[in-house]
Amino acid sequence: MQRNKVTTVTFREMKERGERITMLTAYDCPTARLVDEAGIDAILVGDSVANVILGYKDTLAVTMEEMLHHTRAVARGVKRALVVGDMPFMSYQASVEEAVRNAGRFLKEAGAEAVKVEGGREVLDKVEAMIQAGIPVMGHLGLTPQWVHRLGGYKVQGRKQAAARAILEDAKKLEGVGVFGIVLECVPWQLAKLITERVRVPTIGCGAGPYCDGQVLVLHDLLGLSQLSPRFVKRYADLATLVRGALRRYVGEVRAGKFPTLDHSYEMDEAEFRKLKKSVGGGRESSV
Ligand code: KIV
Repeated sequence: MQRNKVTTVTFREMKERGERITMLTAYDCPTARLVDEAGIDAILVGDSVANVILGYKDTLAVTMEEMLHHTRAVARGVKRALVVGDMPFMSYQASVEEAVRNAGRFLKEAGAEAVKVEGGREVLDKVEAMIQAGIPVMGHLGLTPQWVHRLGGYKVQGRKQAAARAILEDAKKLEGVGVFGIVLECVPWQLAKLITERVRVPTIGCGAGPYCDGQVLVLHDLLGLSQLSPRFVKRYADLATLVRGALRRYVGEVRAGKFPTLDHSYEMDEAEFRKLKKSVGGGRESSV
């Protein structure tokens, strides 16, 4: 059954109906198509493309141009899911004007339908201005990888009362300026549950336990294509082993002359081939 196109309004409606929201990352057209066909509600073109695909050591280096390039590819493969473009480090932190212009580029040039930004009170004025400009924004609290140097590493956030309270306050502030959803990454499940109960916008967990309104994972983690994956990831497939096996068989068969066979070849009509031979002469000295 083809379900209706997901919009940012659907997010709020799903929370109100108690329906869980499914979200995954994708970075290119063919995988976005597969994810969309699986019935996922939202696809995040995450800045995790930096380490998952582009080989950077963290997400800080990825540029606006790279994010737009991947978002375009994803948008071309998607029919139903909501496409969310992740704003890269320093594309929205410096000023309100830069934030609005860059967010606008995701919608205008890349086919995204919303953007995601990391942070709470620090970026509130930017988030508010983007929403005022008609750009739907998703928040991201807890472990925010773009803030890794300020956080002192990739650690679970909000374990202590004061830090947990600050995250809850940030969630309320983001709700107040009109975000349509909030990713909660690597926070204790009790805090995620409390936030989920206290805000009307859907919370999307990522290492935040089972009580959020939805769940997001990095696609390559769940497919077993990442070298390392955090404790909160469940692997639904081991594609790395499958891919390695297939590649080894290919290398072996080409070396052994087992592939390609005539079954994988195109054939010329015999009469045409005879004419060709006649025209070029049969001998080795032929110039063709
Ligand atoms: O970039 C990303 O993939 C993310 C998700 C992990 C939420 O921000």
